[in-house]
Amino acid sequence: MNAFSLLNGEWACEQVALSDLAKQYGTPFYVYSLSRIESQCQALRTAFAAHPTQICFAVKACPTGGILRPVFQAGLGADVVSGGELTRALRAGAPADKTVFSGVGKQDWELALGLEHGIQAFHVESPDELGRLHHIASQKGQRARVRLRVNPNIDARTAPYIATGLHKTKFGISENQLEDCVRLARSLPGVSLIGLSCHLGSQIQELKAFGEAAQRLVGWGTRLREGHPELASLDIGGGLAVRYLDEKPPSVQDFAAALAPVSQAGFQLILEPGRWIVAEAGWLVTRIVTLKSTPEKVFAVVDAAMNDLIRPSLYEAYHPIECVRPRKGDPQTVDVVGPVCETGDFLGLDRSLPPLQTGDLLAITHAGAYGSSMGSTYNSRPLPPEIAVRATQSQCIRRRQKIDEIFALET
Ligand SMILES: Cc1ncc(COP(=O)(O)O)c(C=O)c1O
Repeated sequence: MNAFSLLNGEWACEQVALSDLAKQYGTPFYVYSLSRIESQCQALRTAFAAHPTQICFAVKACPTGGILRPVFQAGLGADVVSGGELTRALRAGAPADKTVFSGVGKQDWELALGLEHGIQAFHVESPDELGRLHHIASQKGQRARVRLRVNPNIDARTAPYIATGLHKTKFGISENQLEDCVRLARSLPGVSLIGLSCHLGSQIQELKAFGEAAQRLVGWGTRLREGHPELASLDIGGGLAVRYLDEKPPSVQDFAAALAPVSQAGFQLILEPGRWIVAEAGWLVTRIVTLKSTPEKVFAVVDAAMNDLIRPSLYEAYHPIECVRPRKGDPQTVDVVGPVCETGDFLGLDRSLPPLQTGDLLAITHAGAYGSSMGSTYNSRPLPPEIAVRATQSQCIRRRQKIDEIFALET
């Protein structure tokens, strides 16, 4: 389904006009289509129905409770990377037995928290972490279920800051350390090795990389499973790409086919998608504060900024921009920028947009993943509200932060 469409000449989320939301909640704000998020969850579940698969939503992509709840109600588990995310996910109804804890630097209190909640598995990234987890679990009289995260050294050909599956990155255990780590894990009574995991990176468009990772995990897993039937699951991570501009992401059916060797080898498959589920379901709506020209450029200075959506500044990520009520007339080329005191504070450069006026609403599209979740209060700008829409109804799932709340923690 289309989360956003032009209705009577203006953009709407499902059947709610974005201009009505702007009147009700002020700008900037994030808006999400719940129906779209649910249909993405359903599409993944359907594509993998023939394979024993557990789909764990990567909470970091969009961690607001009002988004997590429908995702977990749709049958997904959670992939978390901090004690904070674990707490959020469980509060929003994530089943502990479908919750996995990833991350390269889990602290002792975070390992202890995961044990207290009886989560399904810790994805362990070093012998040191294995030892600490064993120690904490033994003290509690527990046995922690573990998957070892292997760094498969596969170039998934995505942007450098979001590529994680290469040896030069900080993630995972390399193949030549794997045997030693497995031996260590099996010697420690506080841990039980139930599988292997990997994560190649984000916004991956090539199925070949996923297929290669699946083959490698199956190869290692098959060898290590001999005499150890409890090693029964392989986690391929997240990373499936979406279309922001002209990318050609694989279909979810082809994605499932590329990962079929996992179930064919008798393993349960675990997935950790984030972006694919929420990216297209969320837009950031902002108002033009002022229009200005220099000898070289026309700038639309808007009331959203890099603190609200950092992806363009951080990764030079491209988000299409729409006028909420496009005017007729010749398009012009503008830079859409925020008010933050950084030249890198832009939401889109050299965009061809219909004629603009101060006060117009613009929508930064495809902002549902790593948008709000990477937001900050830089320049002492309050966090924007988040609105969830279903059909004709809207609901505020996070209110706008008050100025006083920005400095409430200061003593
Ligand atoms: C371990 C892990 N799993 C899953 C994901 C989700 O990736 P994506 O949102 O691209 O699906 C990430 C994101 O970087 C990750 O680090």
